[in-house]
Amino acid sequence: MAKDIILTGDRPTGNLHIGHYVGSLKNRVVLQNTGKYDPYIMIADTQALTDNARNPEKIRNSLIEVALDYLAVGLDPEKSTIFVQSQIPALFELTSDYADLVTLARLERNPTVKAEIKQKGFGDSIPVGFLTYPISQAADITAFKANLVPVGDDQEPMLEQTREIVRTFNRTYGVDVLVEPKGYFPPKGQGRLPGLDGNAKMSKSLGNCIYLSDDAETVKKKVMSMYTDPNHIHVEDPGQIEGNVVFTYLDVFDPDKETVAQLKEDYQKGGLGDVKIKRYLNKVLEAELAPIRERREKYAQNIDAVYDMLIAGSKKANEVANQTLDEVRDAIGFNYFKNRG
Ligand code: TRP
Repeated sequence: MAKDIILTGDRPTGNLHIGHYVGSLKNRVVLQNTGKYDPYIMIADTQALTDNARNPEKIRNSLIEVALDYLAVGLDPEKSTIFVQSQIPALFELTSDYADLVTLARLERNPTVKAEIKQKGFGDSIPVGFLTYPISQAADITAFKANLVPVGDDQEPMLEQTREIVRTFNRTYGVDVLVEPKGYFPPKGQGRLPGLDGNAKMSKSLGNCIYLSDDAETVKKKVMSMYTDPNHIHVEDPGQIEGNVVFTYLDVFDPDKETVAQLKEDYQKGGLGDVKIKRYLNKVLEAELAPIRERREKYAQNIDAVYDMLIAGSKKANEVANQTLDEVRDAIGFNYFKNRG
């Protein structure tokens, strides 16, 4: 039986952080290593350009960093096709064809895009490419006939919109060319890591991230600066667990649930200091981050090999996406020159 196909990706607007790691990267590696899937992992530079058109060097500089982050967490080019969105022209022709099947009103209702528009402060100056990126994302997914898309919870509206486009396309052109994808999400409550400062989201623009590329000293400093319970002033005071970032991270990263439960109890009773729980968290994080960091350093010593990996991945991605585009052109009837030499 043919393997299920996975497609997912990230915008290269900076190095990837541990929020990306728990939100999506970790799942991808697990799925990859089952051997049951054919995974495509895309660095979404064109999507990153939708709100960075005047700042392309940021994307250009991040491309190789994201590729290194991928390799560091254990994505393996022998098992996953890692490629670059802008190097796959078929994606943009598909985007154009799908755009004719989507209304402006439908795009304006997409809750993730809505939230981003607000967060980015576009006001009345929303780039058309930004508003329409869910269509381009549908092209990314359908070009590979992906049926499984491992992403963070915030991407569900993109999948919903992709499924709509697939149904509309197949119905309109009377074919069964495109495939409806399912999302694959992190376990409940683990998908979104708050920032170091207690903000609900870890994000580069908020400056509250631990990056996969941070060295041990930097991680330690960041952990020691973490938001805990502002009213927990003396060690002997009872402390709050709710909204306390250290405990949220321990819940996500510490496999030793019993110890975490005990620490929570002690903290709430009073007598357990912030410095102590932060040192403990740092140890827990290091257990997960140190091997990632070591692999990253190893790959960073041979950047040419990383580019070669992206070139090979993009070549394979082009073959697959061109095949789908050919079927899409056939379906629409834009195949006038076929078999005419
Ligand atoms: N929107 C995703 C993000 O914000 C990146 C992305 C682009 C993507 N195309 C995709 C994810 C296709 C999954 C499938 O990181």
